[in-house]
Amino acid sequence: MAGVIYLDHAAATPVDPRVLKAMQPFFSERFFNASATYLPAFKVRDALNEARAGVAHWLGAKPNEIIFTAGGTEANNLAIQGVMRQFPDGNMLVSAFEHESVLEPAGQYDRRVIKVLADGRLDLEDLRSKIDDKTVLVSVMYANNEIGTIQPLREVARIIADKRRNRKLPLYFHTDAAQAGNYLDLHVSRLGVDMMTINGGKIYGPKQSGALFVKTGVKLEPLVYGGGQERGLRSGTENIAGAVGLAAALNLVQTDRQVEATRLKQLQNQFFKELESRLPAVVINGSRRFRLPNNLHLTLPGHDNERLLLELEQAGILAAAGSACSASNELPSHVLKSLGLDDATARASLRLTMGRQTTPVMVRQTVKALQELA
Ligand SMILES: Cc1ncc(COP(=O)(O)O)c(C=O)c1O
Repeated sequence: MAGVIYLDHAAATPVDPRVLKAMQPFFSERFFNASATYLPAFKVRDALNEARAGVAHWLGAKPNEIIFTAGGTEANNLAIQGVMRQFPDGNMLVSAFEHESVLEPAGQYDRRVIKVLADGRLDLEDLRSKIDDKTVLVSVMYANNEIGTIQPLREVARIIADKRRNRKLPLYFHTDAAQAGNYLDLHVSRLGVDMMTINGGKIYGPKQSGALFVKTGVKLEPLVYGGGQERGLRSGTENIAGAVGLAAALNLVQTDRQVEATRLKQLQNQFFKELESRLPAVVINGSRRFRLPNNLHLTLPGHDNERLLLELEQAGILAAAGSACSASNELPSHVLKSLGLDDATARASLRLTMGRQTTPVMVRQTVKALQELA
């Protein structure tokens, strides 16, 4: 990618060479099926268990509370459908700006939407007022994939704990932490969650690798039936390379997270400062304080983001309008609309997400390019 400034890390991150190295043997000499009965297969099973324990470590969970999945979408579906299929008369709450992989499965059931405030944080009072006796699940993302705002999970957990008293039905709390793994604390009991989605493709691990933390005592119905792997919750021959890659990636990003978050916060501040002095008409969307350190989300009033993206690409800068998953969608982003932005403003907005390779020089070049286009 020489000469290219890649600012779309919320869509995909390159696999760390150390992760790739950890995965490689499981495509060749260690190809065995983890359920087979000979010694080399037992050793592969050990590697899977080690990966499970490695993921559990960073979540402060028990290894048997980690279910490996093929990415974040599947983990979100398992959490939501796994609960809701058991309670046909129950309802669930989601924030208005969840990822489609939460909104769509939730939409198969009685889904109620929690409002989001203009700064891109959940309206806690709206949440409190909407939990009723039939609510069995609340799903609130840890950090938003478009505007990068970090959600008040501990406060959500407190409200849920309060509402749980004197109830017959369970009331579970799920969080989609797909975008949080690089920079935030994932300790599930500190956060107070019952289920958490982890996504390897966003943390310098392989795509289609992921996990769902399922707290002991939470009952789920499987989405996929078969040989009973992953405690019966996700049948199918295990993707050992994917699990090993996920665990290795999580270990690397969580070990470095504070140093990398501090470095990116400085770049984020530099970007905002340069932008404000060179392009005063630009609006920065979402809370600056409760924000992932790699996320920059801007509105360039009067501009069309599709055109801006093409022009940025011609200048060697790869960025996004909205999330990659809805990039082919003509509709303005549901995330921006949930903050109260009108269609024209949403269509004039860009998401730039930095990563390990981003430098102060790249930030300067990007602001300069935006100034030339604006
Ligand atoms: C917040 C969030 N959740 C879930 C997903 C889905 O992940 P995947 O497409 O890897 O299954 C994404 C991907 O962009 C995401 O940003």
